[in-house]
Amino acid sequence: MNKKNICFYLALQIFIIGSFVSINGCGDDPEIGIGPVKEVKLEPQVNEDMANKGKVTFEAKCVSCHKFNEKLVGPPLAGITKKRKPEWIMNMILNPVEMTQKNPAAQELYRQFLVQMTYQDVTQDDARSILEYFRSLDK
Ligand code: HEC
Repeated sequence: MNKKNICFYLALQIFIIGSFVSINGCGDDPEIGIGPVKEVKLEPQVNEDMANKGKVTFEAKCVSCHKFNEKLVGPPLAGITKKRKPEWIMNMILNPVEMTQKNPAAQELYRQFLVQMTYQDVTQDDARSILEYFRSLDK
């Protein structure tokens, strides 16, 4: 290998390492969002017990701002599980303030709706059940 080639390969390696760091090192995946949920494993079938539990929490904590087919204070939620990743949905439920500050899709919603979704004090388990409820409606 001559000198020119060595330089080329070195530059290429620095470039590859650089892109790897920028993808994995800095910041979160925007489709996953920012919050405690990094990975959700979904069963192919909706778990009806979990969905029913999610419905109860949703009706207690979310219906003041959300409907499924119409805008209320917040966006309509029909089709949400087709539009967003499960991790993103759960992080939005668990960490709405930081999401609307830093996640591009949530920032965009905040710009449209001009109201900050408030933290509803739901546990990660409850958020998972709400996700299952959304899945049962979207199937
Ligand atoms: C105070 C009103 C309010 C409450 C209560 C509320 N939200 Fe929201 N929600 C919003 C608003 C407004 C947005 C749009 C983002 C923003 O402006 O903060 C939003 C956005 C969302 C989104 C993203 C929608 C999309 O199109 O991607 C989901 C999912 C969501 N909320 C679920 C919930 C769930 C589940 C609850 C109950 C635990 C809840 N919200 C409670 C107002 C609310």
